[in-house]
Amino acid sequence: MAAFDTLFATPLLGANLGTGRNPELEAAALLIAAEDRAGQRWSKAHGYKGYTSYASLDDLTRRAPPFADLAQRIDREVQLFARKAQFELGRRKLKLDSLWVNVMEKDAIHAPHIHPHSVISGTYYVTAPPGSGAIRFEDPRLGLMMSAPPRKPTARLENRSFVDVQPRPGLLLLWESWLRHGVQPNRARGRRISVSFNFRLD
Ligand SMILES: [Fe+2]
Repeated sequence: MAAFDTLFATPLLGANLGTGRNPELEAAALLIAAEDRAGQRWSKAHGYKGYTSYASLDDLTRRAPPFADLAQRIDREVQLFARKAQFELGRRKLKLDSLWVNVMEKDAIHAPHIHPHSVISGTYYVTAPPGSGAIRFEDPRLGLMMSAPPRKPTARLENRSFVDVQPRPGLLLLWESWLRHGVQPNRARGRRISVSFNFRLD
């Protein structure tokens, strides 16, 4: 081994898809948010400031072509992630399991969580005005670090306990589904729109 190695990687893939803004996808997302009564009810009942199709719709890629296009692009990046993380998949394949849209209004947050039963999760940012809530990733070992000192604010990414990524239109992020993450309060005046998804092993 080297004199100083860093073990147990936590991979995070970031990719810019297209040219940034995606007005067709934004329009499709807002139309679904306006029409999906079940999703509106669910969002309200769960204190979600805005709209998510997470619990109400499982067919976005068949409803609107911009979602199908996005799913294809995401799929390519997921296969790249699997190669970079050196997954041993054998004959199995990573397949899109679920995909949903999130429209966050001002002050919306998303508490830290993981995505159980999935392998790779991620988010694609459609609309992210200035002040949009960052996504915050947590070191998954935090619960074991009884006496570990905090890291310097200037510490390299791999040494930090929390890593915030500021959303921007066209940015795709992928991570392993066990990695805890949440969304910081949305301080933007406008809506923060994202598409989230899970891949499973088929
Ligand atoms: Fe999530």
